[in-house]
Amino acid sequence: MQSKAEKYQDVIRDVLAVLDGEPDRIARMATCVSLLSQAFDSWFWTGFYIVDQAKKADGIDELVVGPYIGTLGCLRIRFGRGVCGAAAQTRTTQVVADVHAFADHIACDARSNSEIVVPVFDAAGELIAVFDSDSERFGAYDDEDRAHLEALMAAVFSR
Ligand code: SME
Repeated sequence: MQSKAEKYQDVIRDVLAVLDGEPDRIARMATCVSLLSQAFDSWFWTGFYIVDQAKKADGIDELVVGPYIGTLGCLRIRFGRGVCGAAAQTRTTQVVADVHAFADHIACDARSNSEIVVPVFDAAGELIAVFDSDSERFGAYDDEDRAHLEALMAAVFSR
């Protein structure tokens, strides 16, 4: 069986190969979602929440759902709300071993027991989205996931 590090190495290589020369941001997000969710069986919801630029122009910090694979996700999340909103507000990755112990967690699917949310920045360092993955397992994500996913998001969206 492949180690987590080997899986990430393969999936990051595949994502970057597929996306070579593709500038469209939605295509880039959809490709990350597809290849990551296929690589990791225990992830049942994998996707992006995108910073709503129209709301931002009106002074409102809100995320709107983007490409994802999984059961129906909530459409909009205010910065500061839930795990995604915390990642957007603080611009830092949230690794949550037990979502039931996270104050203000938004339960889109009752099967979610652990979660990781990684902020996504463009080349200018502006927050453009967050990447969110949920698992039925408790403690499915750790610092290794954080390091690999932060590297992947930087490689795909910050260059
Ligand atoms: N659990 C998330 C909400 C989004 S869904 O899991 C798809 C949160 O608290 O941010």
